[in-house]
Amino acid sequence: MGEVFEKIINLFRRQPSSWMWVENKLVTLNEIGGKHGYPDKRKTAKGKRLLEKLDPKVLLYDEAIKENVNFIKLTCGRLRAISKGRLLDLGCGGGDYYQIFKLAKSPLSKMEYFGCEINDALIKTARIRYPKTHFIKGYAQEIDCPATYYDIVFSSGVIQYTLQDWVKVIKEISRVCSRYVIISRLPLTDKKTFYVKQTVTSIFGTEVRFFVVINKADFKKNLKKYGLEAMTTSKSKETFGVEGIKGLISSYQLLLKVNRSKDTSLPRPVAAGTNI
Ligand SMILES: C[S@@+](CC[C@H](N)C(=O)[O-])C[C@H]1O[C@@H](n2cnc3c(N)ncnc32)[C@H](O)[C@@H]1O
Repeated sequence: MGEVFEKIINLFRRQPSSWMWVENKLVTLNEIGGKHGYPDKRKTAKGKRLLEKLDPKVLLYDEAIKENVNFIKLTCGRLRAISKGRLLDLGCGGGDYYQIFKLAKSPLSKMEYFGCEINDALIKTARIRYPKTHFIKGYAQEIDCPATYYDIVFSSGVIQYTLQDWVKVIKEISRVCSRYVIISRLPLTDKKTFYVKQTVTSIFGTEVRFFVVINKADFKKNLKKYGLEAMTTSKSKETFGVEGIKGLISSYQLLLKVNRSKDTSLPRPVAAGTNI
């Protein structure tokens, strides 16, 4: 009886949206067995062609994108001197935030945009769509650039897919960034950190991904350890269920200031953080 009830509840936990169907299941790191969190080679030819032609204006209607744009407007609008400098979009997908920031007149729209992505097909698409900007193939765990090269690092819906490497990624973001970090669409939990197998079915076919839901206190501890001070934290409207976990999981958006103290082994920022 309990099992049937659980199955019915899990049916409601699935997240049908206009264009994809998502199922999330609790797994152990052993079950993931060293696979990447996010497939680094993918997209059918049809999917790729569709992405290449997609009008970025359409994306402004996407709820997650709207939330990111609003969060940045509300929090970064108050920051002085961010209209210049380099912006790294870490895990940039098809690079659409380059255009989204311009269309939305975002405080970040005048920055020099760089996208970093593991997926070759997406990098190719990004270069076709936005030839005037810079797209680099790379892993968030080891970003190929000198320390403090970027003024702002923005990373939306990416860190969770780096699985047990998430601390390495925080350390690496802190190394390459000199001023502010915006992390968004990151699921956090009050429970112990756990791992999820995610099956996504969309017009591009079915794809399996793995991600981590990080314990909040542990996440905060590591931000502090690597000199990232939380200025604003906001709970996203985005929630999801996981088969095997009670309750819904929330995602978060964070604006962090690089504030490395003398006792960290990391280099101090070239330009000091601006007061707000
Ligand atoms: C859910 S998508 C988010 C895309 C985009 N940032 C957005 O918010 O729409 C996650 C992206 O992160 C990329 N990714 C996953 N793991 C990565 C890693 N270790 N380093 C760099 N990019 C990664 C994936 O290929 C994918 O494009």
